[in-house]
Amino acid sequence: MDIKIDFTNMMADAIGDEHGITDKEIKDVNDLASKSLIELQDERRKKGHPFMDLPYQDDLVDEIEKTADEISEGFENFVVLGIGGSALGNISLHNALNHPYYNMLGHEARNGRPKIFVMDNVDPDKFSGFLDVVDPKTTMFNVITKSGTTVETMSQFLIMSRILKNRIRKDYYKHFICTTDGKQGLMREITDREGFKSFIIPDGVGGRYSVLTPVGLVSASVSGININELLSGASSMDERCAFDDINDNPALMNALLQYISYKKRGKNVLIMMAYANALSGIVDWFCQLWSESLGKKDSISGETVNCGSTPVKAIGVTDQHSQLQLYMEGPFDKVITFLHVERFNKNIEIPKGTVDKLEYLGGHTLNDLMEAEMIGTQLALTENKRPNCTITLPEISESTIGQLIYMLEVQTAIVGKMYEINPFDQPGVEASKINSHALLGREGYEERRKEIESYRKAGSKHVV
Ligand code: PA5
Repeated sequence: MDIKIDFTNMMADAIGDEHGITDKEIKDVNDLASKSLIELQDERRKKGHPFMDLPYQDDLVDEIEKTADEISEGFENFVVLGIGGSALGNISLHNALNHPYYNMLGHEARNGRPKIFVMDNVDPDKFSGFLDVVDPKTTMFNVITKSGTTVETMSQFLIMSRILKNRIRKDYYKHFICTTDGKQGLMREITDREGFKSFIIPDGVGGRYSVLTPVGLVSASVSGININELLSGASSMDERCAFDDINDNPALMNALLQYISYKKRGKNVLIMMAYANALSGIVDWFCQLWSESLGKKDSISGETVNCGSTPVKAIGVTDQHSQLQLYMEGPFDKVITFLHVERFNKNIEIPKGTVDKLEYLGGHTLNDLMEAEMIGTQLALTENKRPNCTITLPEISESTIGQLIYMLEVQTAIVGKMYEINPFDQPGVEASKINSHALLGREGYEERRKEIESYRKAGSKHVV
């Protein structure tokens, strides 16, 4: 069951020449898109982009599943401590593939699997609230950090290890499983010293491309998600991504359309509107993937380019009653990608003949309502000359989510090549990390600390 992209409403014959893409534009950019894909695939063959080979990890799957079963037998809760690329992939998989109220289900309804929490912030009120509801004694903590030094994750780790050491003493180490670099970083050092069970984040796979490594797979498997199916969905998309013809490769076609929209048509805002609450986490994950990969100051050749369109999350139908007014009538700076699910897992019928003047709803299902509202919105946007395309998932399953994740990753990497920037680094994020280390008094950051202090001494000059 393949996912597909319908880009009819991006084209000039649907929304007019002023905002729609013409066949000529596609033809003009086609060579650049194919060349970018070929380059990416060539570099992959030279072991350049290990994220592209992640669908093929049979041995790892067996190991993860075995560990997940052991964790399920021994623990009531499984908690991810991580942030950014070390958290969003986890959230997206649980959100998409588990019951919408998974943690509220009883033990049996969860098939004896632990409750899952992803602590991806250091908000003290939230963390303290978490400690009110989760007993560390029955909890496995999965510390996920590629660098092994991220302040948020390390702080959470320090808090939890103190609590566990106080309560459980010598066996405290049995409550940690770490997912980090195989050789480097402080977390690797601690893991080896303390004897924590651990998984490795492969070399060269950055956080936002790591959901199909143990970063995302361990917690998914602990909750009973079929990670084999997830990876085989990704591998089937990998086969489609090998074609350098835009008509056969959805990642390539979408990369080309987004490139034209941004570079040639000034569409600076990319809205991803999911008509399924289960895809809400995928949209958050995509927003990070797109922002960190494509929002860059410098091109590969060192020219200042300051490029990147801004991704915005929207959920249908909810945001029809919130953001849609702006999409319909605001500036012509947006391109909308709908995520559409053909078949939901459940059908809910609206009762017939109970209230006068609402008869037209009776006998339909909430599924019909969702579909009608999405089609209505697509049509209204198209009539208002707002470019939009639709990615359709036949259903939400491990296979379709694997396909979607892989397609969006490859699409993002191709667009990065087309922009001539590096879609795999994040120097902007590093800058803020350095500042936090300096402010917190980390050794080696003294100079930066002095600079920040003098900036702060100057105080705020314009406050109301
Ligand atoms: O995508 C990225 O590279 C970032 O979002 C990182 O995942 C995030 O900063 C956390 O870093 P780390 O995994 O090193 O703790």
